[in-house]
Amino acid sequence: MNKDIKILSIETSCDETAAAIVINGRKVISNVIASQIDIHTKFGGVVPEVASRKHIEAISVVVEEALNEANLTLEDIDAVGVTYGPGLVGALLVGVQYAKSLAYSLDIPLIGVNHIEGHISANFIQHKNLEPPFVCLVVSGGHTFIVYMKEHGEFEVLGQTRDDAAGEAFDKVARAIGLGYPGGPKIDRISKEGNPLAISFPRANFHDKDCLDFSFSGIKSAVLNYLNKMNMKGEDINEADVAASFQKAVVDVLVDNAMAACKRKQVDKIAIAGGVASNSCLRQTMIEEGAKRGIKVLFPEPILCTDNAAMIGSAAYYELLRGKKSNLELNAIPNLKLGER
Ligand code: KG4
Ligand code: ZN
Repeated sequence: MNKDIKILSIETSCDETAAAIVINGRKVISNVIASQIDIHTKFGGVVPEVASRKHIEAISVVVEEALNEANLTLEDIDAVGVTYGPGLVGALLVGVQYAKSLAYSLDIPLIGVNHIEGHISANFIQHKNLEPPFVCLVVSGGHTFIVYMKEHGEFEVLGQTRDDAAGEAFDKVARAIGLGYPGGPKIDRISKEGNPLAISFPRANFHDKDCLDFSFSGIKSAVLNYLNKMNMKGEDINEADVAASFQKAVVDVLVDNAMAACKRKQVDKIAIAGGVASNSCLRQTMIEEGAKRGIKVLFPEPILCTDNAAMIGSAAYYELLRGKKSNLELNAIPNLKLGER
């Protein structure tokens, strides 16, 4: 009988210090997240140096808590998975060094995981029977990709942002209309009271009709221009209408390109991943448009959409199955590309 594989995973790529224990890539037995959001909110965004320091303070407590929650000790762990990129270099290094020390002292495999692959893998935890091939729309604060996952560990990027990430656009627009940081959830909430057709914000069009790339800086600038114009005219701004119209513009392009990617790859399932995958308008529109085309839309529960270590544990498991272990030379790679080792 095959033994269950318990992976202790660590995630410190941005502003969450997280550790989890995942069995066989699918079953989460603990998932601990220490968020630094309160500290960064004061600065209106993540301050890299502050993030690294806070990771150092939190990492051992978070790992210990993950073990306690799972009712396990370090001796029960079969491998250590850790995010080594992309992300903030100082933040990544905290997790990488900690994971290396653990793997070395316990004499167990170390597996470096790509953060984006982690986001995609959150869907394997949520949907126990999900297997590639499928298309995945990864939308987070730092990344926007449409990816075709052919096999575990095999990715083809079909489209990506040429400027701002989707979540970054949400955060910037939220700041401009005075909602604060992080803006995504706030725009989502206030949009429910607004009219998405109130203001027509532009959707980026590329000359090449087959191109599945994105550009969000134009939409963002259009919102800022609209706000300036209204202020100069002394007219009242309806924040809910601005938020709902902006959100619709972003969601429309995400969904259009995602559906086109499914058609191109002839797949009938699409997963969404990353912080923006929690967005209620994105979820609903994807489901509606998917239903029209016979495409099943999958997404993880919100806690698995934003940064967490369980998703890293799932990705690490499939890397381990494919024999992709790291050695103690593993280093943080801030601009690590998808599928790159
Ligand atoms: O995946 P994540 O936790 O971190 C990165 O890897 O970047 O994503 C965070 C991003 C932030 O930009 C946040 O505003 C956005 O996800 N976000 C949302 C929602 N919840 C989080 N954006 C839109 N609607 C939401 N409900
Ligand atoms: Zn992330």
